[in-house]
Amino acid sequence: MKQVLFLAVFALIALTGVYTVITLYDSTLKAGRMNQTPVLRPHEKPLLIMDKRTIVSHKSEALIKEKMKNTFPVTGTGSAQAMLVKGEKDYKSFCSHCHGNNLDGLGTVGQSFFPLPANLTGENAAQLSDKEMFAVISYGSKKTPALASSMSVESRYAVIRYIRSIQKSNL
Ligand code: HEC
Repeated sequence: MKQVLFLAVFALIALTGVYTVITLYDSTLKAGRMNQTPVLRPHEKPLLIMDKRTIVSHKSEALIKEKMKNTFPVTGTGSAQAMLVKGEKDYKSFCSHCHGNNLDGLGTVGQSFFPLPANLTGENAAQLSDKEMFAVISYGSKKTPALASSMSVESRYAVIRYIRSIQKSNL
């Protein structure tokens, strides 16, 4: 009987210990856990309808690259201010879950990546030219997603303008 009681107390202490360690670990996570962030349930918004003219092409990447040569830098797309507003909005849609709302690389989803998403206000990102950044966003790298087929050329460019504005304000 004594043994059973001893085991029960021991198990209780061990469980309390494990629980405390996990809670402590969670409370030090800067980006927070996924279950603490806002939820968007599937199909809350109507699905995008594909343009009827869309065709599947194995050459699509080459076509996009070709198009990019002629479209960069993007010009004639409204005022600089409008570009920044669009850039911020699109950053929040396409980048912040990995790179964080403050561009510091602390997005919730990004924390499960190795290497971690780049700090876009850091020196490395500041040293990338607009064109290099455009290429990273468009084609990705080993660890970054290629977003050329998800984001319009203008949207990628606007996001770069937004990132630059934050980089400048952090100097
Ligand atoms: C699915 C997560 C994810 C998303 C979404 C994402 N990134 Fe990244 N990004 C990463 C990771 C991870 C790295 C680090 C890769 C590495 O170091 O090899 C990175 C690196 C970068 C870099 C640095 C590349 C370099 O060579 O230093 C830039 C710039 C960048 N991302 C911009 C963006 C922008 C702008 C967006 C939105 C349009 C975006 N990323 C969306 C995960 C993501």
